Amino acid sequence: MRDGATALAARGAETIIEVKLPGRSYAVVIGEDLLGSSGRRIAATLKGARAAVVTDANVAALHLPALKASLAEQGLLLGEVVVEPGEASKCFTVLASLSERLLELGVERGDCVIAFGGGVVGDLAGFAASILRRGVRVVQMPTTLLAQVDSAIGGKTGIDTKQGKNLIGTFHQPSLVLADISVLSTLSAREFRAGYAEVVKYGLLGDAPFFAWLEANWPKVFSTPGPERRHAVETSARAKAAIVEADEKEEKGTRALLNLGHTFGHALEAYAGYSDRLLHGEAIAIGMRLAFTFSVELGLCPASDAARVERHLAAVGLPTTIAEIPGTKPTPEALLRLMAKDKKVKGGKLALVLVRGIGEAFVEHDVALPRLTEFLTRECAIG
Ligand SMILES: NC(=O)c1ccc[n+]([C@@H]2O[C@H](COP(=O)([O-])OP(=O)(O)OC[C@H]3O[C@@H](n4cnc5c(N)ncnc54)[C@H](O)[C@@H]3O)[C@@H](O)[C@H]2O)c1
Repeated sequence: MRDGATALAARGAETIIEVKLPGRSYAVVIGEDLLGSSGRRIAATLKGARAAVVTDANVAALHLPALKASLAEQGLLLGEVVVEPGEASKCFTVLASLSERLLELGVERGDCVIAFGGGVVGDLAGFAASILRRGVRVVQMPTTLLAQVDSAIGGKTGIDTKQGKNLIGTFHQPSLVLADISVLSTLSAREFRAGYAEVVKYGLLGDAPFFAWLEANWPKVFSTPGPERRHAVETSARAKAAIVEADEKEEKGTRALLNLGHTFGHALEAYAGYSDRLLHGEAIAIGMRLAFTFSVELGLCPASDAARVERHLAAVGLPTTIAEIPGTKPTPEALLRLMAKDKKVKGGKLALVLVRGIGEAFVEHDVALPRLTEFLTRECAIG
């Protein structure tokens, strides 16, 4: 990580992070008030493309007029498709109607789809773009903290089925990512906090100085759209870009590190029914704390590091224990079943991202199920 003091970007100027991939490199542009210049930026990068915007009703009500005006100014706007907010839109039914609407708007091979929203819109619109006319380009314009630091970068698209989340999808890298941090100001405090869990993740998985910086600066990251918030978004986006460059399709193990806390977290999310009871980032916060505590129990990680992680997540108001999930609590058996569904169990062993300390995550392929069961039994009993 660059030195925190010098890395704080000057207000106004944008930062460009290159994601370098053979034949499909792209820029992630991070800055304030980018909506107004988005038409010009898209026209310059995707020459000759017209654009159809996909968004959800919440984002449409708050920010669509500004984006549409900017696209119309450049003569790019084909129209928009507005889906219902929420995870339920990541399904075959909505994918089908969205794809047909995009065809009706006249999207041709040389045009692009703009995914304007959080991770739900990014995954859904990215998937639709990847199959529309055998693949049209997509511009990701993430509007949640989670999407700006994670889901808009890296090209994973997908929808959910009754068999699980994100099991149907494609790798379809965007041609451009425009992350306007000004739009984060309309995000609810709870959604912002949940997205912050993914910011913390980058510190925990490979950047201890960044985690220390977050411990010292989180109040400013949360309270104002100033340089600290921007630094948090940029450092996270840079980390995501580097991981994607190293292992685009999750074949070498590097990209798997992004799953720190996710196998535990996905099981908790599934248990809570992917509902408002537990947002994705909240589940990941609990999952990361579990990954640290489990690593301490296995003798891999100093207890003081796990304590720091728990303290920081709790300080920002994120949950860290299963007991904090509202409503009925899962049994260890139920959690284990859900974890085994998320990650394949081979010969009674499960792969998990564990840690040797803050900033030192690795994939452990041989986690013995009895050991994990014991651990979950203790965690589920915490009142
Ligand atoms: N593709 C990937 O690599 C990847 C990585 C992580 C997560 N994901 C996916 O991302 C999804 C979660 O994304 P999310 O947390 O952004 O959720 P989301 O897209 O559901 O957005 C959360 C809520 O915030 C609202 N919203 C969005 N932007 C807003 C703004 N600027 N102001 C006010 N409200 C706004 C939305 O309407 C929604 O109600 C999950 O489906 C997950 O699977 C994908």
